[in-house]
Amino acid sequence: MASPIASSSSHTLDDEYIDHLLILYASETGASQDTAERVGREVRRRGRRCVVQSMDRYDVMELPHVPLVVFITSTHGRGDPPPTMLPLWTALLRKSLPPDILEGVNFALFGLGDSSYERFAYAGKLLHRRLVALGAEPVLEATYGDERAPDGMEQAFVPWLESLMEGVIPHLLPVPKHANTERTDLSEPIYRMSLLDDETDPTQLARLSLDEEGRPKRNGGSNGDKEGVEGSIAPVRVEDATRGQAHEVLKPDDWVWATLQRKERVTAEGWWQDVRELELELEGSTEAEYLPASIANLQPAMSTEEVDAFLAGQALVDIADRPVSIRSALPDQPMPSHLPPSGHTTTLRRLLTNHLDLRASPRKSFFEWLRRLSGDEREQERLDEFISDPDEIHTYATRPSRSIVETLADFREVRIPLSHILEILPPLRRRQFSIASSSSAHPGRAQLLIAMVEYKTNLKIPRRGLCSSWLQDLPVGARIPIKISAPTLHLPTDPSTPVILVGPGTGVAPMRAFLEERVRQGAASNTTLYFGCRSLSADQYFAAEWEQYRNLGASVRVAASREGAEKVYVQDLIREDKEKICDWIVKSGGHVYICGSSNAMPKSVREALAWCISTEGAGTLDSEEAVAYVEQMFEQGRGGEESW
Ligand SMILES: Cc1cc2nc3c(=O)[nH]c(=O)nc-3n(C[C@H](O)[C@H](O)[C@H](O)COP(=O)(O)OP(=O)(O)OC[C@H]3O[C@@H](n4cnc5c(N)ncnc54)[C@H](O)[C@@H]3O)c2cc1C
Ligand SMILES: Cc1cc2nc3c(=O)[nH]c(=O)nc-3n(C[C@H](O)[C@H](O)[C@H](O)COP(=O)(O)O)c2cc1C
Repeated sequence: MASPIASSSSHTLDDEYIDHLLILYASETGASQDTAERVGREVRRRGRRCVVQSMDRYDVMELPHVPLVVFITSTHGRGDPPPTMLPLWTALLRKSLPPDILEGVNFALFGLGDSSYERFAYAGKLLHRRLVALGAEPVLEATYGDERAPDGMEQAFVPWLESLMEGVIPHLLPVPKHANTERTDLSEPIYRMSLLDDETDPTQLARLSLDEEGRPKRNGGSNGDKEGVEGSIAPVRVEDATRGQAHEVLKPDDWVWATLQRKERVTAEGWWQDVRELELELEGSTEAEYLPASIANLQPAMSTEEVDAFLAGQALVDIADRPVSIRSALPDQPMPSHLPPSGHTTTLRRLLTNHLDLRASPRKSFFEWLRRLSGDEREQERLDEFISDPDEIHTYATRPSRSIVETLADFREVRIPLSHILEILPPLRRRQFSIASSSSAHPGRAQLLIAMVEYKTNLKIPRRGLCSSWLQDLPVGARIPIKISAPTLHLPTDPSTPVILVGPGTGVAPMRAFLEERVRQGAASNTTLYFGCRSLSADQYFAAEWEQYRNLGASVRVAASREGAEKVYVQDLIREDKEKICDWIVKSGGHVYICGSSNAMPKSVREALAWCISTEGAGTLDSEEAVAYVEQMFEQGRGGEESW
């Protein structure tokens, strides 16, 4: 258990102004958000107030004035903070900050990570160190949960949460006067969903509220309890509120509209993997110009079949298309970024289609909700097993990629109350794809190279990635919102600097954009690309272009692993070119970029680079020095790695 750290802080129960706990999370695939929401629920169950917020939505200028904060973050890339931590992180790194700017801020930190990565929970560790350096005071030992631990993340999280709840919260966070500390099965809803028309079937309206035991009311009763229905929001006409398609999405201000102009399969018919090249026409002059290796964020939609299955299973079909208004029900708690803004009018079907993920594999917190909601003894027993044993969840849900819709079909007694639906169902996450084109070569357009995620698990049921299957079904001509994020990889400003690009599979996407840019800069002759595929004829993307680039002076080498008697990978070609690699890296200060799947490839490429510059290859460094050189080269920004 993480020990509470004896606090020299001046904040105590007497400090009237510690009225709530701030919980800030940075999440990429949803685990940290889920963890933060779990902490929030525990705090609220104890009658305390808290605000749970994504770091990128938080005004960092406020941080020095916050007496008690919990930070929860995962680590991505190669020990990088998730993108949503970056605004806060960049602000905290500012050299001009006074060294005691966070004096008076008490904090606890839980980092999520996976110890199979070289830099385990690195973002959490860096954040902890920086907070302390700026004068913030840890009230608990920083704790890092490991996905690879025998009990997964829970192994570290459960004792940490206990320490927070027992050792910190009672001492630093008073129970507000008049707080309801009675424990019910379901906590008060955080977000309120209100039906706006008055034609509502009372039995459905009752699902907006809870019975005395905190369960959703199954039979509405004759009075049609309208708790949860807003009095303050003017009713809107049904036809206004429900107009449009379910897949019609809200476009946040910093996103732009794009039209799908082209979608082509670029692997051979019958090949094991379906990879598509997509071309999007971007609206708006600013976004139409993007830096090479920028990242496209796409917001997928749930399939009609899954939404219908959920609505039917939950007996919600009747109200699916009625207008609802949503808003935050707790003071200070903003709506999370995956939901429409407070006061927005929408329908349940649209929320399920565009904002909530029904295909995600349920996490522990979902089973905890089901346990509170099920009145069936057998279901309760099964759910207790899930909650007490992470292996059970792994076997039932994670390993076979069982979805939320499928899980609900197994727990038929559960009816999710509308009042809690926005809390219980996980967010529909945007997905990221590297842009494969440079905007100077394709003005106003962004090309993407996307592998359709298709696989079978031990249940032998075919599974499809949410975003890739949505794109697969998206018709040419469709208008979708897209956000273009700044790249994490940057070409050297001086085109005479040699550049080595390594991009097997779809990892070639940003490398192709770099190559286009280098050709435009007249730097083709000191640019080398190592591309990897299995077959020259079946999955060699952009094959026709490679020849053109060669003719312009670039070196493009293709490792087709299944073509010859022996398997050849990009790292093998790099070793073959040891003289050039050594010369470009050591003598000419060249940059190296590696992109693709985060399995063994990036490590093998680094090893090959180190080998080339060591005495075993064509260099003068001993093997340890060579490894350190490569490491340092990346740390100094001479290239970079993007893996997923
Ligand atoms: C910065 C960045 C750039 C990227 N660029 C590209 C790109 O250019 N092209 C590209 O194709 N991808 C790219 N990706 C990866 C892409 O974002 C992910 O593959 C994404 O998950 C696909 O979304 P999806 O909704 O189709 O799949 P999801 O619904 O998210 O499904 C993916 C999940 O399915 C599961 N899964 C997949 N295969 C199996 C299997 N065989 N067995 C068991 N479970 C499995 C895993 O849990 C995996 O996380 C990039 C990722 C990042 C972070
Ligand atoms: C592409 C990718 C890169 C990752 N890199 C690291 C890493 O460098 N270090 C680490 O400890 N964990 C790493 N992880 C593991 C995540 O931190 C872990 O899965 C976490 O639970 C994700 O939380 P999130 O869903 O809130 O983002 C990586 C995961 C992915 C998918």
